[in-house]
Amino acid sequence: MSDDKPRPARTRARRGTKMRRRLSGLLALGVALVAAGALYSVVTPEAEPALAADPAIIREGQQIYDNSCITCHGTNLQGVQGRGPSLIGSGEAAVYYQVSTGRMPLAAQGANAERKPPRFDEAQIDALGAFIQANGGGPTMPVVANGEELRGEDIGRGGELFRLNCASCHNFTGRGGALSQGKFAPNLDPASEEQIYAAMLHGPQNMPVFADSQLSPEEKRDIISWIKSVGGANPSKNPGGAELGGFGPVPEGALAFFVGLAALIGISLWIGSRQ
Ligand code: HEC
Ligand code: HEC
Repeated sequence: MSDDKPRPARTRARRGTKMRRRLSGLLALGVALVAAGALYSVVTPEAEPALAADPAIIREGQQIYDNSCITCHGTNLQGVQGRGPSLIGSGEAAVYYQVSTGRMPLAAQGANAERKPPRFDEAQIDALGAFIQANGGGPTMPVVANGEELRGEDIGRGGELFRLNCASCHNFTGRGGALSQGKFAPNLDPASEEQIYAAMLHGPQNMPVFADSQLSPEEKRDIISWIKSVGGANPSKNPGGAELGGFGPVPEGALAFFVGLAALIGISLWIGSRQ
């Protein structure tokens, strides 16, 4: 019986330590949550469009939209039958792509919206993007001070990823090519770093969307580096081989084959004529 006496005391003591353990557990959880919050705010500022929340800029974007886009895309971005698609979910990236390459506002309906000199300047494009982003949501552009920052470091990996994901339409060195029904994948030379990035996020027309889950931001940057490294605008950037329109190894190989064959025939005729 004398053994029973300390028992409640011991249970109380144990309960005490359990309580303390629970409290310290809660405290640790609190600290971890605060730390995670702080880390999150340090790590993710890039995902937050800097201008998206500014109501003055959104209002400016709406004015441009009402003047230049509303007839084809509708009062609430819902689209207009037979004129233009809905812009809900298109996002800032699609707006940047379409307006900075001069494709929008569309001049004439055709198989492909054509690249033209842009109608609006960068600030106006940002405002349009902010307005459409605020009302329709969708993929946003990474915030960078200049396009150079969108170039990755691994050009080799960029080339590999390009051949895997883009060359089927844009050809091995981005010279472009024909698709079905009068459509075509354009030459990539005129596209800026931002426009290439936006094209991947947007997936205009026949082009697939390359979300960040498919091609990470680093992979996108490597692809951009590669496209820029083979850009035909600068002849010193030729990836090698005879020019032949930059159509890649198949026509170059074919040319070598036929020239070689002709040379062999020529030599055997010459040997034959000497005997
Ligand atoms: C004359 C009609 C017309 C006008 C004006 C016009 N668009 Fe378009 N827009 C279209 C058509 C048609 C398409 C689809 C074209 C395509 O897929 O190549 C389109 C596609 C787009 C897309 C891509 C949508 C998506 O997610 O696939 C965006 C973004 C866009 N327009 C923005 C604008 C903006 C911003 C303006 C005003 C500056 C504008 N458009 C003016 C007809 C128009
Ligand atoms: C299924 C074919 C297809 C594939 C694959 C494809 N594209 Fe495209 N791409 C197109 C078409 C079609 C257009 C023209 C869209 C338009 O009219 O706006 C285009 C347009 C572009 C443009 C705009 C060029 C300009 O005039 O400014 C860029 C940049 C681009 N693509 C990059 C890429 C990259 C990078 C990849 C691979 C990650 C890729 N594309 C994969 C079909 C494709």
